[in-house]
Amino acid sequence: MAHLHFDGCDVLELAREFGTPLYVLSEDRIRGRIRELRETFLDRWPGTSAAYASKALQTLDVCRIVASENLDLDVVSGGELYAALKAGFPPERIHFHGNSKTPEEIRMALDAGVGRLIVDNRTELEILDREARSRGIRAPILFRVTPGVDSHTHQYMSTGDLDSKFGIPLDPSVRDQYIGAALGMAGVELRGFHFHVGSQIFSNESHRKALRIVAGLAAEVRERYGLETRELILGGGFATRYTGKDKPEPLAYYTDALMEDLRNLCAESGLPMPRVGIEPGRWIVAEAGITLYTVGSVKEIPGVRTYVGVDGGMPDNIRPALYGAEYEATVADRHDAPRDRVVTVAGKCCESGDILIRDIPLQDPRPGDVLAMFTTGAYTHSMASNYNRLPRPAMVLVRGGKARLSVRRETFEDLTARELLS
Ligand code: LLP
Repeated sequence: MAHLHFDGCDVLELAREFGTPLYVLSEDRIRGRIRELRETFLDRWPGTSAAYASKALQTLDVCRIVASENLDLDVVSGGELYAALKAGFPPERIHFHGNSKTPEEIRMALDAGVGRLIVDNRTELEILDREARSRGIRAPILFRVTPGVDSHTHQYMSTGDLDSKFGIPLDPSVRDQYIGAALGMAGVELRGFHFHVGSQIFSNESHRKALRIVAGLAAEVRERYGLETRELILGGGFATRYTGKDKPEPLAYYTDALMEDLRNLCAESGLPMPRVGIEPGRWIVAEAGITLYTVGSVKEIPGVRTYVGVDGGMPDNIRPALYGAEYEATVADRHDAPRDRVVTVAGKCCESGDILIRDIPLQDPRPGDVLAMFTTGAYTHSMASNYNRLPRPAMVLVRGGKARLSVRRETFEDLTARELLS
């Protein structure tokens, strides 16, 4: 029977050597996506840039890969910034995001010399101005604005609607206060605007609508304040294929439309073209990752369904439980066998909602089989928890048929290391 191979590695051997559950990440696939991004966006449209959104998956190795490919990096917390710096990521290529940055995080970002701070609210703006002035610097900032468009994705992944915790509302009464304040501050330099409409978005319509709104904003602020929008970041959110039902378009479907729109909008209003950035996370890493589990039990409830219990679940991949996300999988030891049994893959947590995949035809799974779940590179490791005191899985990085440990498995000792017994 044929074993599943992933980037030249027999996944059964990976499971044997490194144990399960195991995240397997392909360095070549990540680099392949970045190559596509370079060829179809950065090279085609001069004056553009791309930042990888760390939140999708950040490890020291991922930071190293992204740095070596010359992309910028988005971080949203002191922890992500710390890890990026530890991996040697050049601070001037880091963008610091977040809707509730703490004063400590703002100080940390300024001390590190991050390239851009994306400002989300007034309190942050004031702290930033004060801290920058006390350091004798002028912090380069963009305003994150809320364009007020519906991105037709899962409610928890939509960020651009009017009713959003992210960004500065574009109502003139609010917007003008922010711009007026920033222009009067010696500690900040407002270089432009940022928007992000949501995540896993199949149509380019919401990005395009948001761009039209933000280009209108750029024209207004030039007229009213003489402020030139030198930079514009259009966010991430480009869709990836999880199952056969998903038919994502190539990246250029979004970026070509947006760049053409922007060129026209700028020409119409006489604005110079700003530098344009995008910040994909999922699009770069999702399909570069798979997760391996070992089947522990197969429980048939006659006339109802068959549950296949595995040794991981919602702690290593919360997405099915949180968003109803769907995945594909295979029995890795009999990859070529007929898929003649419909089963439900269940995680091992004490939660009825801990179901990884509902009603999927598989190759008659049995205890001891290795199950591979596809497209788990994004928002799995980065959202992992220790619910039920499950140690977080190891991650191996595969490249050209060779695998090496990238993140070691958590131990039981790690799980209690922070606890003090009185
Ligand atoms: N830029 C900003 C400001 C963002 O908030 C995000 C994602 C991105 C870029 C990257 O979006 P991407 O290209 O990865 O779609 N946990 C959810 C996704 C949350 C996305 C949050 N922000 C999930 O598992 O689907």
